[in-house]
Amino acid sequence: MLLLMILLFCSLRVVTAQTNSTGSARALDALLQDYAYRALVRPRTRTGRVYDGVVPSNLTGIMVSAMRLRSGSLRRHGFGMYKEFEIPMGIVEKPYVKRLVLVYQNLGNWSIVYHPPPGYVYLAPVLGLLAYNASDLMAKNLQALRINASGQPISIKFSDIKSLPEGPVPKCVSFDLNGTFDFSDVLPDKTCTTFQQGHFSIVVESTALSPVPSRHGKKNNSKVWIIVGSVLGGLALLVILGLLVLLAYKYKKAKKMQHMERAAEVGESLEMTRVGSTMAPAATVTRTQPTLETEYVP
Ligand SMILES: *[C@@H]1O[C@H](CO)[C@@H](O)[C@H](O)[C@H]1NC(C)=O
Ligand SMILES: *[C@@H]1O[C@H](CO)[C@@H](O)[C@H](O)[C@H]1NC(C)=O
Ligand SMILES: *[C@@H]1O[C@H](CO)[C@@H](O)[C@H](O)[C@H]1NC(C)=O
Ligand SMILES: *[C@@H]1O[C@H](CO)[C@@H](O)[C@H](O)[C@H]1NC(C)=O
Ligand SMILES: *[C@@H]1O[C@H](CO)[C@@H](O)[C@H](O)[C@H]1NC(C)=O
Ligand SMILES: *[C@@H]1O[C@H](CO)[C@@H](O)[C@H](O)[C@H]1NC(C)=O
Repeated sequence: MLLLMILLFCSLRVVTAQTNSTGSARALDALLQDYAYRALVRPRTRTGRVYDGVVPSNLTGIMVSAMRLRSGSLRRHGFGMYKEFEIPMGIVEKPYVKRLVLVYQNLGNWSIVYHPPPGYVYLAPVLGLLAYNASDLMAKNLQALRINASGQPISIKFSDIKSLPEGPVPKCVSFDLNGTFDFSDVLPDKTCTTFQQGHFSIVVESTALSPVPSRHGKKNNSKVWIIVGSVLGGLALLVILGLLVLLAYKYKKAKKMQHMERAAEVGESLEMTRVGSTMAPAATVTRTQPTLETEYVP
């Protein structure tokens, strides 16, 4: 029973860890904000210069950068190319700050971990663009500012994109900070557009790719099979244990019965007593007490 409970507990933990990817994506954003800010050379941080950060070793494969801008300059001039993002003029942030830091994220092979696209396969890594208050460059756990492109949208020119498969139509996907996602068309030259901060990539439906199985689906399936397998294995183990206990019990009972029978046999056999020169059986206990006739009261 204990074994089963431990198994169930473990599988539940796996499931909950998997379903709440929004929470973990926000936690990752917070961590990457910190590591991107550390890249800014302090105290003489240059405005409009891109600083590439270093992520902790447990997140190898992710790239981050940070760039500080005056919000007035961003609104009036935009920036041009910031990694894969082309920042047009007309960007306003909410709430207003005097200076902001644009944090760039390339989630690389971690894309699927933090932004699992249900039923889709990534053709490009997930890229993130988030804006933060630049007043305190030592700050951690900052809340992302909302940015809004009031004129042209921000363009995302994916450089690292897998060759498009024949048949299924690739789509741009954008995840906003609530974990909700939207699809839009991929523009010529493999570009997606957005009016807001968030995370972006290009996907195709995994069902449309029957010869190439979805990596995500496979991973999920194998996880499910691991859970089902361990629960079934646990149950089988329990049944075997139960059978063993039953067998042991039966064996013990059988032995006891044998013992009792033997004891009974011994008890039944009359003791042999020497009477003269011959052995004669004699009862140890007289079974019916003799009664004298005179004692007998009718
Ligand atoms: C996931 O995590 C976020 C933030 O930690 C939380 O607000 C949300 O309620 C969680 N969702 C579920 C389904 O547990
Ligand atoms: C990675 O390591 C950093 C620092 O060593 C730690 O703060 C963070 O929680 C870790 N993140 C994950 C996702 O393991
Ligand atoms: C991504 O790749 C790096 C090495 O390039 C590896 O250390 C890391 O574990 C990988 N992450 C995932 C989620 O597979
Ligand atoms: C930006 O940070 C500064 C210093 O931490 C703070 O005083 C200011 O209120 C922040 N601005 C916003 C809009 O949060
Ligand atoms: C973004 O800016 C446009 C134009 O100024 C405005 O119509 C729209 O409501 C804004 N969106 C948000 C989410 O602030
Ligand atoms: C995200 O959440 C905020 C409030 O939590 C809400 O105002 C906003 O409309 C949501 N955005 C989307 C796209 O669901």
